[in-house]
Formats: sequence, C-alpha cells, structure tokens
Amino acid sequence: TISVDAERAGPRIDPAMYGLFFEDINRAADGGLYAELVQNRSFEYLPVDNRAYTGLTSWTAVSTAGGSGTVAAVNDDARMNERNRTYLKVTLTNADAGTYGVLNSGYNTGIPLEAGKSYDFSVWARTDAAGGTPLTITLRNQAGTTSYAPPVQLTVHGDTWRKYTGTFQATGTTDAARLAVEAAGSGTLRLDMVSLFPRDTFKGRPNGLRKDLAEKIAALRPGFLRFPGGCIVNTGSMYGYDAASGYQRARAYQWKDTIGPVEERATNANFWGYNQSYGLGYYEYLQFSEDIGAKPVPVVPALVTGCGQNRAVDDDALLQRHIQDALDLIEFANGPVTSTWGAERAAMGHPEPFGVDRIQVGNEENLPDAFMARFLRFRDAIKAKYPDITVISNSGPDDAGTTFDRAWELNRANGVEMVDEHYYNDPSWFLQNNKRYDSYDRSGAKVWLGEYASWDNKLANALAEGAYMTGLERNADVVTMASYAPLLANIDYVQWKPDMIWFDNDQSWGSANYEVQKLFMTNVGDEVVPSTATGAVRTAQPVTGAVGLSTWRTAARYDDVVVTSADGAQLFGDDFSNGADQWTPLAGRGAWSVVDGAYVQSDTTAENTMVAAGDEGWHDYDLSVKATKLSG
Ligand code: AHR
Repeated sequence: TISVDAERAGPRIDPAMYGLFFEDINRAADGGLYAELVQNRSFEYLPVDNRAYTGLTSWTAVSTAGGSGTVAAVNDDARMNERNRTYLKVTLTNADAGTYGVLNSGYNTGIPLEAGKSYDFSVWARTDAAGGTPLTITLRNQAGTTSYAPPVQLTVHGDTWRKYTGTFQATGTTDAARLAVEAAGSGTLRLDMVSLFPRDTFKGRPNGLRKDLAEKIAALRPGFLRFPGGCIVNTGSMYGYDAASGYQRARAYQWKDTIGPVEERATNANFWGYNQSYGLGYYEYLQFSEDIGAKPVPVVPALVTGCGQNRAVDDDALLQRHIQDALDLIEFANGPVTSTWGAERAAMGHPEPFGVDRIQVGNEENLPDAFMARFLRFRDAIKAKYPDITVISNSGPDDAGTTFDRAWELNRANGVEMVDEHYYNDPSWFLQNNKRYDSYDRSGAKVWLGEYASWDNKLANALAEGAYMTGLERNADVVTMASYAPLLANIDYVQWKPDMIWFDNDQSWGSANYEVQKLFMTNVGDEVVPSTATGAVRTAQPVTGAVGLSTWRTAARYDDVVVTSADGAQLFGDDFSNGADQWTPLAGRGAWSVVDGAYVQSDTTAENTMVAAGDEGWHDYDLSVKATKLSG
C-alpha cells in the first residue's frame, strides 16, 4: 500500500539533476564520439606504459609498380607547429609512373563508409620538388583490390606548409576501409594532419561528432555534462620527455592544449594508456553541451594524483599555473569577447558565453588533506574573481571508508558547497542502500553523485540502479546532481565496464542501464511528493554451500573468460582487459548474473588458479560458487 501525502511539500527537484559523465576512457573520443576517421593523423603517437605506440602507429608504406621511397615520423625544425610537433617525412625515389606513400588503417576494423555519403579529406603538406608533387588519395580495402570511392587528386606546391582539401563520394559501404595517400615523382614530401571526416556529423558541425552516438546521448535530454573525466583529468607521471628538445608533456588533462585550430593542438599519451588527439577539446565539449541542452561542468586537475596513484605534486609555481588555468577557463567559457580568452572562444565561432556556473576541482583524490589544501587555493582564487561560480570538491574513493570519511570531514569543516561522490558496487548494494542519503546533513554540502554504476549491464543491474535513483530523488534537497559512469565503450577497446552506451565502427546501442537513465532524465519531476509504502518486503537471505554446476573456459590468459552452467547458459564472465591484477580483488565485479532468481558470484580461488596457470587452451574446471538467493 502506498500512501501519498499531497499536502506536505517535499524537496524541489533540480531540472538538471540527472546528467552525464563523459570521459575519454574505452576510446570513447578518438575512434568514438569524435568523428575523425584517420587514426594517429598527425603522427604524434608515443609509447604509453607497456604499449609500443610510435609516430607510425596505424600507418604502413604502400607503393605501386615502379614506386619506391622511405617514410619516417620526424620531429625536427621543419615541423608545422610547436605543440603538435611530429610530421611524416616521405622521401620519394619513384621511377617513371610509380607512386609511393602511406596507408592508414583507421580505428578498430578500419574506416567506416556508407555508399552515397560525402567524406571530407584534408592534409597539410609541403614539397621540395620543383614542379610540385602530385598526390592520389584513395579509399580502398587493405589489399587495394576494392575501391570505395573515386580518388581525390591534388598537387602539393612549394616547400611551406599549406592545407589541401578534397571530397570523396562513397560508392561502397564497409566498416573496414583504408585511406591511402600516394605520391608521384621524387624529392622530399612532408605531410601532417591527414584527416577524413564524414560530412554528416552531429548538427553538421565541422570537426564534429559521430552522429549516431551524439544522437543517442542527446536523446537522454541530460541536465548536465561533466567532462573530460574522471581519472584522465588527474595529474599523472610526466611522460614523453624528449631529451633533445627538452619538450615534455604531462598526462594530466590541460584544457589549453585542446583549443584552437586542431593542427596546433597538443596530443596526449593519456592516463588510460592510449594516445588522444584532443580534436574533441574544450570548445567542442562546451558546444556539445549547448547542442544537447546540458549544463557544462568542467573538471580541472588539482595537482594531487587521485585514482590510486597517491602522490601530491609539491610545486607551487605549477599549482599557481593550474589555478590561473582554471580562471582562464571560466573566462574562455563565459568572458566577454573583449577579454583574452573570450576572444579565443569568439575566434572559434562562439561569441556568446557558454554559461558555465560550476566547476569541479580534482577527481577522486586519495590524499584528502593534501587535496583540501590545494582545493582551497583554487576556491579562493575562483571566488575572488567569480563569486557566483560553484566550486565543487570531491570525497575521494570510497575505499574501506577511511579516505571517504576524512574527505567529508574536511569538506564539511571548510564549508564546501558541493561534493562529488563516486561508487561502483554490486546490484545488491544499490538495493540495500536506497536510504543512504535519508540521514545526510541537510545544512552542509550538496552531493553530486558524479559516478556510479552496479557492476554489469544486465537488466537486474539496471533495475537496481533505477531503484537506487528513487532514493536519490527522494533526497533531492541533498543530492542535486547524479550521473551514471562511464558513458561510452568501444567494443574493440574495453578497459572498463559496465558502460552506458556501446559502439563499434558503425553501430551503437544503449544498455538496459541506458534505458533506466533515459526514463529518469526524460521524466524529471518538479518536487518530491512524500509517500510511504507498507506491505511484504523481499529481503536478501544468504544461502551458502556449493552449487554444483559449470564448466569454465578460457580462450587466452587475458582474453574472455565465461562461466557456463551445465546447460550451456552463460553465468558470468570477464575479458581480462584490465589484466590479471584486476581480477583477483574484484570478485563479483562484472561477474554478477541472475540465474533462476539467484545472484551468483565467482569463487576467486578458482580464478586465481586459472590465471596463475597462464593457460591458453580450452579446459574444463570444477567450479564451486556461493549463492545468495533472494527470497520470494
Ligand atoms: O568511470 C571510470 C573511472 O572510475 C573514472 O575515471 C574514475 O573517476 C573512477 O575511478
């Protein structure tokens, strides 16, 4: 029985309460939301951790009969830009009619094309060949036996950098094309920023976003968009130091690297272990927020390395620079066109302010005291210049309660306006913690649940999250913003799951969790109507003991593991994309499944045995599982 008290006023619900968290994780941006089809277009890729990226990653040399030459990714004085430093040097030694050049493999399976659609090609080039260097650009299969569009022909003239453009009209449909750029003649040809965009981007914007993904995001009608992360924001170790030039780049996300003409933007060997182009940068994030009617919420690094790195950067000059960057960011978003950074925004095509009214400093900081010391410096500076901007802090990761508790203590003691909480947990946790915010301090900081998800994309997870969201909404006077995380996953590069929207090169699909988010986002109420419910309540009752079922099998040490019951139904699995170290402590993570009404959790001992064996063949294992059966 549900009793509704229509006379008593409940909390108002902010129309922007339910929003989105976009992070470039799972290759969500390049090869995903950002519509660029050429991978490593400016030859900047650097190795990241143990991944051997180079300036020639995704490029191979190609030639026709009589064609010859050499290619190298070069960082020297002939470069086009200071921040985007490497280019492709092509030394041509073609005989007669031969051509020589490079082939780009695109992302994942290749370049997706649709017959009848237009694709805009561009390249920056220079040549020392006196009569110029003729280029033939084609869209073809790997072997060169199939063409997907009539070629584009250009001639490069002069030994200074110039932009050349052309348009392809696709005659074939594929998700695995290659882009070939081949040159005739001899001499030294230099290429940079080789680009191919579908003409048909979201809202037709140049340097735009992939339409199907952006439309799925827009269909949520999100109240806000948090960007660009997540751990990707945090200051990581310095990376990519080039002893010869003294040039170095930080893995932290710095917004000034991401604006202006794309060929002048830095790239970054990022926190998540791959290179990002920053073609989807701060201007594009702000524009996208506006296009989908979402309040933009930028996150800036606080010089404390959260996300498990536990390091505070003690460099006052650097901290001061980051604080100034945050002030400049607000000016870039909101300032008049007569201001320095407002003029930059206007030059990019948006003289009107974007209306940023809140900014987050730091993400999941593990060192609450070190973080708060830095946060207060940011807040003081921002409030002095922009008193109306809400400066959002965070509560650190919820590991064993300790960091979380200390962070909250400091947030409360310092009168912080809004605190960003994050947690990922089992669906049962979400069901059991619906009342989490019923007892939160009403006079203190507002809560932004900036990241949450239950560990899978199954219907049971989506329902658990939906149930939990009723608890958020009931406490809308405390929890003023909430965003599921992460938003996007490229199925060919999954490093974190679950995720809300999945995609490959030419298709995308929302999860069950997406549908729940959509239900809430597109039906935001005005205020909570106080109500109570009475009746039989289903409770979880632990059942212990072995459940005799299962074969489990592994295709490769770091590849898919699925556990199946005797009748062949998949119970749970993991693709090990995070490595074996992620598996052991994560019993239940990505591993929950509902089978005949029971939640089944993996036995970590058995998993360890399998991982330690490093087995790459198919084997049967006896599996014992613990089950918690829901009564009723
Ligand atoms: O959403 C994925 C990651 O989870 C985020 O980058 C980080 O903030 C959290 O730990």
